[in-house]
Amino acid sequence: MNLLDGKKCAESLVAEIARKVAGYTESGLRTPHMTIILVGEHAPSESYVKSKIATSGLAGFESTLLRFPETIRESELLAKIKEVNEDPTTDGLIVQLPLPKHINQQHVINAIAPEKDIDGFHPANFGRMTLGQKAFRPATAYGICKLLQFYEVPVKAKHCVVIGRSNIVGKPISIMLSNDFDIGNATVTLTHIETPRELLLDETRRADIVIVAVGIPGFVTADMVKDGVVLIDVGINRLESGKIVGDVDFENVAQKCSWITPVPGGVGRMTVAALMINTLMAYQNNFN
Ligand code: GUN
Repeated sequence: MNLLDGKKCAESLVAEIARKVAGYTESGLRTPHMTIILVGEHAPSESYVKSKIATSGLAGFESTLLRFPETIRESELLAKIKEVNEDPTTDGLIVQLPLPKHINQQHVINAIAPEKDIDGFHPANFGRMTLGQKAFRPATAYGICKLLQFYEVPVKAKHCVVIGRSNIVGKPISIMLSNDFDIGNATVTLTHIETPRELLLDETRRADIVIVAVGIPGFVTADMVKDGVVLIDVGINRLESGKIVGDVDFENVAQKCSWITPVPGGVGRMTVAALMINTLMAYQNNFN
């Protein structure tokens, strides 16, 4: 069993970005700048945002955190997004999800300027990505691709099973791995909550690569996978004890895997690294 070490891979990608940024700023260009909007006080969001800001510093970016109370009206939030869209010194904008229930998430995502949408959630980016055109790719899915690439794990012509059809992970990773991308050309099955258990097991037991993003601790057990499987665990679940675990019963599954991501230190780190890649791309697009 080999670990797909997201921390190591992310550090290497961020260091490469920092070298490029140093080159730009030494030649007199301004520093890349990422803005994050955080609404309310959702504990996991606080922790993700902290990590995004810390990593952006390591990448050599400037960052701004705009905090708003849980009670902000949707119209006020949309007006703030418009301000950031129109601010020429911000290259990338993240609106941290989830948002309070009274705010329509899709209205908010649609309001982000596609050229600043470093999360890749805007329909224009999602559509371009799906069509195989240049686009910001959703960061978790892109991070998974970068991790597989870093460790030279073969993807082309492999049978990949994705568990979970969320717009931010399951759907984009299944599209990206099926597309004719540098990390792609796999045969992908997308399974979800309505997939009958027997069908799910038929699929996962013959999969070369399993990607799980369901948010249920221990969802993938050893009897569900074949020997030599590559396992990508997107889950970040906090147990009552405070321990952070993924969606995989790691202790029992890891021994069957050729490669597996740890939690923490796997996909989570790669999501943040991919956001930095997208921010650099947004910045570079200003000069092209
Ligand atoms: N909440 C959980 N994951 C994400 C993400 O990748 N981007 C944003 N904006 N919010 C999230």
